[in-house]
Amino acid sequence: MWDTNPQQFWLRGERPEHAVAYDEQLGFWNVYGHPEATEVLGDWARFSSDTSRLLPAVDQSLNDGNIIQLDPPEHRELRRLVSHAFTPKVVADLETRITELTHELLDGVTADDFELVRDLAYPLPVIVIAELLGVPGSDRHLFKAWVDKLFESTNQFSLKDDAAKQREDILDSVESFRPMLDYLGEHAAQCRRSPRPGLLNDLVQAEVDGERLTDAQVVNFAAVLLVAGHITTTMLLGNTVLALDAYPDQLAMVRRDRALVPAAIEESLRFLTPFAAVARATSKPETLGGLEIPADQMLLLWVGAANRDPRRFANPDVLDVTRDPNPHLGFGRGIHFCLGAPLARLEGRLALNVLLDRFPRLRTDPDRRPTFMPSPNLTGVQSLHLLTD
Ligand code: HEM
Repeated sequence: MWDTNPQQFWLRGERPEHAVAYDEQLGFWNVYGHPEATEVLGDWARFSSDTSRLLPAVDQSLNDGNIIQLDPPEHRELRRLVSHAFTPKVVADLETRITELTHELLDGVTADDFELVRDLAYPLPVIVIAELLGVPGSDRHLFKAWVDKLFESTNQFSLKDDAAKQREDILDSVESFRPMLDYLGEHAAQCRRSPRPGLLNDLVQAEVDGERLTDAQVVNFAAVLLVAGHITTTMLLGNTVLALDAYPDQLAMVRRDRALVPAAIEESLRFLTPFAAVARATSKPETLGGLEIPADQMLLLWVGAANRDPRRFANPDVLDVTRDPNPHLGFGRGIHFCLGAPLARLEGRLALNVLLDRFPRLRTDPDRRPTFMPSPNLTGVQSLHLLTD
């Protein structure tokens, strides 16, 4: 239906041959099934998040504070600490600011040239996360350049490449986000010199068991927030508008009954899952989906595919905003469940409501097809032209 990455076969209504399959070419185990992915996500002792140990070591300081790659007990400590700074109240307090920003951004739109990602879905979450961290939202063109570079590749990293090639690939991506780390490092240093409002400052001041976070931990964690905190939400906003446009009956229901907006956001995450794959590693031999997986293997959990598993979802290829329950894995599951989910949900709900309020005839432009993020690990519109009259 759309020009999504051809590797994402589930978006075309195709089913995997097996729920778990070894990829001979790339050296990964692909996990496509919902029960299998849920099993992996729920058992950190068998399936570790520290996948970096399977890759050639480049610069250990880059992993410090990278919460996504930590296992307990380090994960528990860091998560406790950051949850302290990133509470539901902090998020709920952003409601007024997010609504105001959405209106401000839409005030700048011209009816004959409305591109949702450029005009709203990109700037909104990036300004919100920058303000939350306490770095200038006006620097967002810098973040965009760094993050675009990180995700511009359409190639998949291969464990079958020799170590030198793997190292080169990793160094390439490290180099692309080094300027972001330097930028955050400078702001963190300013916070140490003179405290100021914001999450970056709170991280600099935060203590775990009487110990301060190191500079590398603060910077790497802030970088995770800056990256995870915006492109995913950008994709969520764009995907939601795109999906509702493709299902006019669903859009009409949501327009009639705004209480359905939160469910529409959840269904959008299931139907077009922004963060389509997450990685795990085996520490010892494991059985999964009837297959024997040796120790020290990389697993790619295709949560986007699991979210279309007919064993879990009736009519998985149909957008249904009344789906209940909707146990999608769009925010992951288990101890690494997305820390930013309340913020992403809030941004999604507020922005969709404002769009529906302001544009009673909002629809996609049939003459300009949407484009999608090139990476096979992401599912999200990169540009979406809309008509409003
Ligand atoms: C973790 C998706 C928005 C911060 C995750 C994970 C997924 C995910 C799938 C689990 C990764 C794993 O298990 O390995 C998404 C999607 C979003 C979104 C689809 C938007 C629609 C955000 C936002 C923030 C954020 C707005 C921050 C402001 C994080 C962090 C983690 C995480 C810090 C790591 C948690 C941990 O390891 O304990 N996200 N995310 N995310 N997300 Fe999000």
